[in-house]
Amino acid sequence: MKSESITRRSFGEGAMIAAATGALLGAPAAARAGSAAERVRLGIIGAGSRGNQLLDSFLPIPEVDLVAIADVDDHHAGETADRVKKAKGNTPTTARDYRAMLDRKDLDGVIIATPDHWHALPAIQAVLAGKDVYVEKPVGHNVAEGQAMVRAARKTNQIMAVGTQQRSSTHFQKAVEIVQSGKLGKVFWVQTWNFENISPVGMGKYPDGEAPSYVDYDRWLGPAPGHAFNPNRFHLLFRWYFDYAGGMMSDWGVHLNDIVLWALNAKGPNSVYASGGVRTTDDDRDTPDTLQVVYEFPGCTLTYSMRKGNGLRLNGHDYGILFCGTDGSLMLDRSGFEVIPDTVVLPYGIKRAHGDHPIRKIGLKHETAKGVDGQDAHVRNFLDCMKSRARPTSDIEIAHRSTNTCHLGNIAYKIGRRLEWDLASETIKNDPEANLLLRREARAGFELPTV
Ligand SMILES: NC(=O)c1ccc[n+]([C@@H]2O[C@H](COP(=O)([O-])OP(=O)(O)OC[C@H]3O[C@@H](n4cnc5c(N)ncnc54)[C@H](O)[C@@H]3O)[C@@H](O)[C@H]2O)c1
Repeated sequence: MKSESITRRSFGEGAMIAAATGALLGAPAAARAGSAAERVRLGIIGAGSRGNQLLDSFLPIPEVDLVAIADVDDHHAGETADRVKKAKGNTPTTARDYRAMLDRKDLDGVIIATPDHWHALPAIQAVLAGKDVYVEKPVGHNVAEGQAMVRAARKTNQIMAVGTQQRSSTHFQKAVEIVQSGKLGKVFWVQTWNFENISPVGMGKYPDGEAPSYVDYDRWLGPAPGHAFNPNRFHLLFRWYFDYAGGMMSDWGVHLNDIVLWALNAKGPNSVYASGGVRTTDDDRDTPDTLQVVYEFPGCTLTYSMRKGNGLRLNGHDYGILFCGTDGSLMLDRSGFEVIPDTVVLPYGIKRAHGDHPIRKIGLKHETAKGVDGQDAHVRNFLDCMKSRARPTSDIEIAHRSTNTCHLGNIAYKIGRRLEWDLASETIKNDPEANLLLRREARAGFELPTV
């Protein structure tokens, strides 16, 4: 198998471009690429479902040229090339292997929307080749991959923005401001959740078979362990297998926990424990369909609750974030937020024991806001940062920490013990066996470059 690390020639070029980029900090992307003023030339790696959603935001922007597409599925690449041609008039190059794209001198950046196990390698290779990167969440397949991505971004001074786009929604920003303002009183309990009922069939069971002829399946597997082709372990559904992703915890949990870290101004929890299993879904998934994770922060508990065998909504929402403070609560999701004032009560027992006494009146006002989709603004921020060289709203380091909460939830679930997390070294302090799960060995030929 051909080594995945970029060739000596392309690496040399990449290093030179990276060095030149460092020297040109502050220069517009177009100047770095030497192309026509203000144009931004991008490629996309992974043109599946999410890749095409991202193009909904990128393609309408006049200064964006989408000049290259890499996808291991020829149909996805071809269909996306047709779409670009219709929207922009040019025909982008298409390839199964993205490495040729990274060798191009006329490319400013890449959008990476591959499955989770294929985020770290192209993102690191891209910044080493002097490209800016917009990479989808969760940051990597495991903690060590995220750490390598942060190191690569910092070493090269390239932009590495992550698709945790809720940070660019104005109502999420306002909600975080309210939590941080102290208006809710002491925020001591936060809940995030995802509930739905897909029991018992879920995605069903399908026999292993031959990969379609128009797909480079070995390349789809990439760093993941070898496995016969199965439609459940492929497009879209890969997220329910630990070989490629982290189940609902990292697929959706990352969006929710990301906002919690932001609002609590925290880099991560001090400890985590979890309980769950595959209890209600009779398909081939190996990630849990039932999960309860408890995170401990100084003075605050966060729980992530997930079930796929019962869709009863919490406060009318099948997913969301609930901040509870001593003066009231803030309920938040993509549709908007609601501030709900609380009432202090004098319980019967206290009243009987100590007699009636005045109780605290809460002055918090009820407030609602409608949801604002942040996707376009998030993409705009990435493009602006390519020009200004400022750190993006969802910089890799921020999103790496949010992703870590999900990896930790999954590790605690697998290990079944309470894990103490060292924020500075990003290691588990009390459990050597759990520490081993912070990384995994890539399949030969798909190892990360040393950064
Ligand atoms: N930010 C968000 O709100 C959001 C929403 C959905 C998905 N996502 C993320 O986007 C990523 C992709 O998810 P999806 O639902 O689009 O999956 P998908 O299976 O629909 O698309 C993945 C695409 O990547 C291609 N691919 C796989 N390996 C490749 C490689 N080595 N080189 C080039 N192409 C390769 C596949 O052929 C496929 O076309 C996931 O990490 C997911 O978590 C983010």
